[in-house]
Amino acid sequence: MSTWRIKGGRRLHGSLRIQGAKNAVLPIMAASIIAECETELLNCPNLSDVKASVDILRHLGCQVTRNGDVVNIDSRGMTRNYIPHELMREMRSSVIFLGAILARCREATLSLPGGCELGPRPIDLHLDALRKLGAEISERSGNIYCRADRLVGTQINLELPSVGATENAILAACAAEGETVITNAAREPEIVDLQSYLIKMGVDMEGAGTPTITVRGFKPVERIGHRIMTDRIVCATILCAVAAAGGKVELLSVEPKDFETVSSALKGMGCQIDCRSNSVTLVSDGRLKAGRPILTRPYPGFPTDAQPLLMAASLKAEGTTVFVENIFENRYRQVPELRRLGADIRVEGRVAMVTGVPELHGAPVNATDLRGGASLVTAALSATGETLVFDSGHIDRGYEDLDKQLLSLGADIKKE
Ligand code: EPZ
Repeated sequence: MSTWRIKGGRRLHGSLRIQGAKNAVLPIMAASIIAECETELLNCPNLSDVKASVDILRHLGCQVTRNGDVVNIDSRGMTRNYIPHELMREMRSSVIFLGAILARCREATLSLPGGCELGPRPIDLHLDALRKLGAEISERSGNIYCRADRLVGTQINLELPSVGATENAILAACAAEGETVITNAAREPEIVDLQSYLIKMGVDMEGAGTPTITVRGFKPVERIGHRIMTDRIVCATILCAVAAAGGKVELLSVEPKDFETVSSALKGMGCQIDCRSNSVTLVSDGRLKAGRPILTRPYPGFPTDAQPLLMAASLKAEGTTVFVENIFENRYRQVPELRRLGADIRVEGRVAMVTGVPELHGAPVNATDLRGGASLVTAALSATGETLVFDSGHIDRGYEDLDKQLLSLGADIKKE
């Protein structure tokens, strides 16, 4: 894995366009196989997680080509209905293919997805939803075996508004006879983008973005074109980086409401934020003050993925910022690494207390996971001296060119 060399202390200025959303393109790539069709995806980010999905699609027998940020998927030649361990281990969220393969083939075998850096990542809600639609599921020697002679529409109430379980339920429901109503569904914008793609495919559905999603039926079309939404967590990352380092940044062609909770938190810390219909501008003098407690919640609450990033922006803020991580058990893995830069953070279970320090000092640190790695980069930009971020391959999973974007804003950053 490569290393990032960052010299902090420089203010950042400029305008940026933001990549397509990782967490939208992954379920849409899975959805592209539920019928025999050709899909053209625009604004497709070039990420290692996307490459992992492309490898799975090719393994299943699809033709996939890429030209810049345009990816074409032809699922008419699909021949397989199983995903082996060596492909599943690349990315745990590949479990989203379970519902899609079941919808296409009525039979699916996946190697059980492992946990991940964020703690255990159960899939009980995914499997319960598929069983309710008529699937028989067994687990043996590390594989999930899933088959359904018939998928029949039904009522599915999710115990938790799980993003992945909502997506898997939607994809399997597309092939079900009759109507499926999913309640307590996740409301993330990426699910709205998935619905927009599925409707273009000929699925009769509504309700994405609300707690109740209804899937009525499916009349497949042969060709679909879709532009992936902008990545709201990358937007949040850039805003937190400029808030911490000081300066001014304009994010172009974005949807401000998708990351409104992050913008509002930064405003509460003393940044000036100007939201227009499709742009957001942030101005910061780099001297922030602690804001109100940050409690991560399912959308439209504060996104867990932005918690490490806002934590980085709060390290020198005057006062104490309280974080409560309600989604994942182990999402403070960046804390020991941030302490190496001089941060004052106390963690008690799900609560992290960040007390602002006058200065951070560059140091060698290790990226622990995707957003934890981005958190270290954000903190390094506001530290005095040089920081080396090792294991930065984690960052490549979700950021297309974060180093180049920060370089274009004036950061002293080099990927080695
Ligand atoms: C999606 O993960 C995102 N990944 C995550 O982004 C994001 O952090 C998460 O949603 C929450 O917003 C993708 O979309 C590819 P969940 P997912 O199912 O679907 C528990 C990033 O950094 N749960 O909503 O796996 C689970 O343990 C990644 O881009 C069950 O108990 O998240 C967790 O505590 C990280 N049983 C909570 O629900 C289940 O069957 C939320 O998980 C499923 C989930």
